Amino acid sequence: MDNNKRPESMERITTPALAEAFINEQITAVRNQVGDKKVLLALSGGVDSSVVAALLIKAIGKQLVCVHVNHGLMRKNESEAVIDMFGRELDANLIYIDATDRFLDLLADVSEPEKKRKIIGAEFINVFADEARKLEGVSYLAQGTIYPDILESIKQAEGKKAVKSHHNVGGLPEDLKFELVEPLKFLYKDEVRVVGEALGLPHNMVYRQPFPGPGLGVRCLGAITRDRLHALREADAILREEFDKCGLAEKVWQYFIAIPDIKSVGVKDESRYEGWPAIIRAVNTKDAMTATIEEIPYEILHKITYRITHEVEGINRVLLDLTPKPIGTIEWE
Ligand code: XMP
Repeated sequence: MDNNKRPESMERITTPALAEAFINEQITAVRNQVGDKKVLLALSGGVDSSVVAALLIKAIGKQLVCVHVNHGLMRKNESEAVIDMFGRELDANLIYIDATDRFLDLLADVSEPEKKRKIIGAEFINVFADEARKLEGVSYLAQGTIYPDILESIKQAEGKKAVKSHHNVGGLPEDLKFELVEPLKFLYKDEVRVVGEALGLPHNMVYRQPFPGPGLGVRCLGAITRDRLHALREADAILREEFDKCGLAEKVWQYFIAIPDIKSVGVKDESRYEGWPAIIRAVNTKDAMTATIEEIPYEILHKITYRITHEVEGINRVLLDLTPKPIGTIEWE
């Protein structure tokens, strides 16, 4: 049997009852696979790693060691939410690493998008590997791999060129040899969400919009500076808050702010006020290969513009990105 092919007999998981059956199956499979050994998981807080964490906590409790690396490129309050949910509420074995300085120091003065992505991906593996080496008796690595990831790597193995280098915890150094635990590897995203809800994860975590591995690093365009990154995080939080309030959050697939490394002249308190523009991007897509633009009502755009320019230090303009994919990718870098 091909280990990377979804079994044809596997029913699509569309209801809580089917999710329940899948969860029970996987609990038995994971227990059989790992016995009394420890399992390590990089818990980013994204849908896939969160669902794997909740599933494995149920299957093996404290044998699961979750490591949450804060690379300093998370959205506002994101790491705190991971700690609250998994560390406090689910009482998981959770190690929190604030690696902000490590990442931002390495990224200082690096403006080339692919270089930034490579640095973030490689450093993520370094931080995670350093942590893994400190732990004793860990034989397994759990991953939130889902079926589209497998299909994508098959395509790449067949020689199709990737548009951007995505990052995950694949490619750990030679001395760290783990066997993989990948309970979601035959599931599509919609099925992962049904399973997540059946596991009791909150709706907003399970239906959270996708967030790229390199995080705000690919939205703080060009060479990242701490002040612009801070402005980006605050502006992005305002956009998300306003989308939540008006119901667009439920409707739009992905929405965020990007801030380029340019300043324009503005005026504030009757004085010259140079600042960055915040660019709003809000797209809809089925598979992220193509995307269309969401039409945001003007009154909402005005409100967001007012709030961002009045509440966020350093931003003096708000722009709207109207570009579909193709020709623009969803992220700016
Ligand atoms: P692009 O910009 O290529 O993005 O149109 C398509 C989707 O992928 C997300 N994205 C990433 N996801 N690691 C990820 O896990 C990454 O490095 C990465 N880069 C982009 C992007 O947010 C969009 O949803």
